[in-house]
Amino acid sequence: MLKPLYFLLFSVALLSGCASMQSNQSSLYDQLGGQSVIEDITKNLLDIVYADERIAFLFEDTDRAALHETIVDQVCMETGGPCTYEGLDMVEAHSGMEIKYSEFDAFVEDFILAMEASNVPFRLQNQVLAIFAPMRDDISYQ
Ligand code: HEM
Repeated sequence: MLKPLYFLLFSVALLSGCASMQSNQSSLYDQLGGQSVIEDITKNLLDIVYADERIAFLFEDTDRAALHETIVDQVCMETGGPCTYEGLDMVEAHSGMEIKYSEFDAFVEDFILAMEASNVPFRLQNQVLAIFAPMRDDISYQ
C-alpha cells in the first residue's frame, strides 16, 4: 500500500537531485539559452549601441556584420560555449580609440538593456557582466 508513495518520493528526490546537479554543472552559455539567445543579445546590443549618441560615433567606421560575428563568438566562448573566438585580443581591438570610462559604462548600460530585451534573468545578467566588467581598466581611460 505504501510502496507507490515511497516510489513517488524517491522519484521526486532523484529528479530534483538531477535538476540541481544540472544547474550546478551546466555552463553559463547553456543557462542563457545557447547560441540563438547570444545572437539575439548581440543583435539587440548593436541596435542599441548604434542608436546611442554617447558612443555611436566610435562605431562609424566599423563593419557591423563582422563586429556582430566576433562579439557572438567571444560571448559564446567566454560563457563556456562551443565556440572559438579568433578576433583580436581586447586591448588590441580597442587600442587607439581612447575610450573614456564614461563611454565604457555607457556600453555596459546598453549591454544590460540588450540582455533585458532578450529576457535574460537578472542573476544571469550579473554573471555575464562579471566576465566583461574587468576589461574596463584594460580598454578605457579617464
Ligand atoms: C564589455 C566590453 C566589450 C566587449 C566584450 C567588446 C568586444 C569587442 C569585440 C569582440 C570586438 C571585435 C574585435 C576584432 O575585430 O577582432 C570589438 C571591437 C570594437 N569595439 Fe568592443 N567590446 C567591449 C567594449 C567596447 C566599448 C566600451 C566600446 C566603445 C564605447 C567598444 C567599441 C568597439 C569598436 C568601435 C570596435 C570595432 C573596431 C574596428 O572597427 O576595428 N567596445 N569589441
